Amino acid sequence: MLTAYDFPTARLEDEAGIDSVLVGDSVGTNMLGYASEQEVTMGDMLHHLGAVRRGVKDAYLIVDMPFKSADDPFTACRNAELFIDKGADCVKVEGWSDKKNVIACLTESGIPVCAHIGYNPQIHGSKPQVFGKELQQALDLVESASVLEAAGAALFVVEKVPREIAGLIASRVKVPVIGIGSGESCDGQVLVVNDILGTDERTFRHARKFVDFRNLTLQAIAGYKTEVEKRNFPAEENFQHVEQKVVESVMASLAL
Ligand code: KIV
Repeated sequence: MLTAYDFPTARLEDEAGIDSVLVGDSVGTNMLGYASEQEVTMGDMLHHLGAVRRGVKDAYLIVDMPFKSADDPFTACRNAELFIDKGADCVKVEGWSDKKNVIACLTESGIPVCAHIGYNPQIHGSKPQVFGKELQQALDLVESASVLEAAGAALFVVEKVPREIAGLIASRVKVPVIGIGSGESCDGQVLVVNDILGTDERTFRHARKFVDFRNLTLQAIAGYKTEVEKRNFPAEENFQHVEQKVVESVMASLAL
């Protein structure tokens, strides 16, 4: 699973065979210049979901329910229906066992849900923390997974949970468990696409840059600027001519 927020990236991920594309609320901090996930609105998510939907043909398309959009079952169902109408296959809801009724209500309405447990940026704030290092928290996580699976969760994202506890969750629930910062024992992995592309200087322990997009982009922009300033761009192949007699007629007309 990989996040996507726009049409061209969604198309590339689909073409590359990514199984599941997530329109994450990380769109706020990664694409919209927001300081936190809590600023992301339903309007933002619908806009980006539409773009990604147009780019995805085969992948399973999941969309995040943004801050406060799934606080109670009624609000969650009303908002999730907007996402399904816009082409989402599944909605992702942050929260542990407290989200049981929300997930049950969405599932009963026929809306597949991805439950997001562990570190929840909407709830815990933008500063990432590990959850499940102490006994009680580890137990809460494992129990939450069982409770949410029983409520109907179709899959899980497990974020920033120690490898051993994430592995335990994956072995106890029957639905797929997708990890982020939670080790290799999950059934699958998810990352923010900007982090694998290296679109900014930040690095995260849980991620890996597979390309240095920031420096490639800076080189391309600098190259373009230099070539324009040197008048090497546009070159002959980048534009068209008109016959000399047309030019002469235009000039003659202007002289009148
Ligand atoms: O919004 C997001 O990108 C996410 C992933 C980090 C799982 O929720």
